[in-house]
Amino acid sequence: MRATSLAVGGATLPAGPELAVLQSSCQACHSFGLVTQQRLSAATWKAEVDKMRRFGAPLPKANEAAVVAYLAAHMGPRVPLAAPHTVVTAPPITYNEAHPVAAAHAPSTDSSAAGSQLYTQNCAACHGAAGAGAPGAFPPLAHDPVVTAANPADHITIMLKGLHGKAIGGTSYSSQMPSFSQLSDNEIAAIIDHERTSWGNNAPIVTPDQVKRAR
Ligand code: HEC
Ligand code: HEC
Repeated sequence: MRATSLAVGGATLPAGPELAVLQSSCQACHSFGLVTQQRLSAATWKAEVDKMRRFGAPLPKANEAAVVAYLAAHMGPRVPLAAPHTVVTAPPITYNEAHPVAAAHAPSTDSSAAGSQLYTQNCAACHGAAGAGAPGAFPPLAHDPVVTAANPADHITIMLKGLHGKAIGGTSYSSQMPSFSQLSDNEIAAIIDHERTSWGNNAPIVTPDQVKRAR
């Protein structure tokens, strides 16, 4: 157990149970730097932590309020960020749960471009731009049995309901696949078609109507 405080990205994070919880819950899917480079209000931290819990972060509900208060105190809007040359910088990330509106209204003839863009926005963070996944953390979608199955029923269901606890190709994944039921039938069909026709996959595509009937 870590007994010392952590100085990172311009923030000083005092030792304590909150730091231990953050370190153990938040590094399963991405670096701790993605957390420590943020400067957010308490309300935005709460929304961020809720979102990570929906993604599968193993943060006990009982610890949430203390962790959010800790994040807001030590990575709040008034805490300076380290000078750029002292940190590994990533492109700025804005907190935004809005879904692409333009793509939803794209004509169906343009569905492959829309599918590619929607995939980048909604799926690539976990499954990778080229559908290769991340070993042990997120399954690959290239040559995946569900994505290449002739019958797309499971594929549509996973998109609508999410997935947790399934061993895929002999690997069990501790994180979960969130539900994307908030996307429109057109958007879901476009993403599914993109997966089914990319990265060497060559499976039958689906229509928005098939998605609608599966809801
Ligand atoms: C199950 C995997 C997973 C875990 C565990 C996880 N995250 Fe994330 N996190 C993600 C993904 C995926 C993204 C990119 C999300 C996006 O683009 O919408 C992300 C992005 C972020 C971002 C950047 C802002 C954003 O929303 O894109 C912050 C800050 C963050 N996570 C904080 C945390 C904290 C704090 C914890 C621990 C409580 C945590 N994460 C645990 C998957 C996870
Ligand atoms: C927060 C990370 C995350 C995001 C974002 C995400 N997935 Fe997943 N996905 C997973 C995990 C983890 C699994 C494996 C779950 C399991 O084994 O129970 C999975 C499983 C799947 C599967 C099932 C593979 C199989 O063989 O059963 C498909 C298909 C899939 N994802 C497609 C997508 C698509 C398309 C998107 C974007 C709309 C997406 N995922 C977004 C994490 C994510």
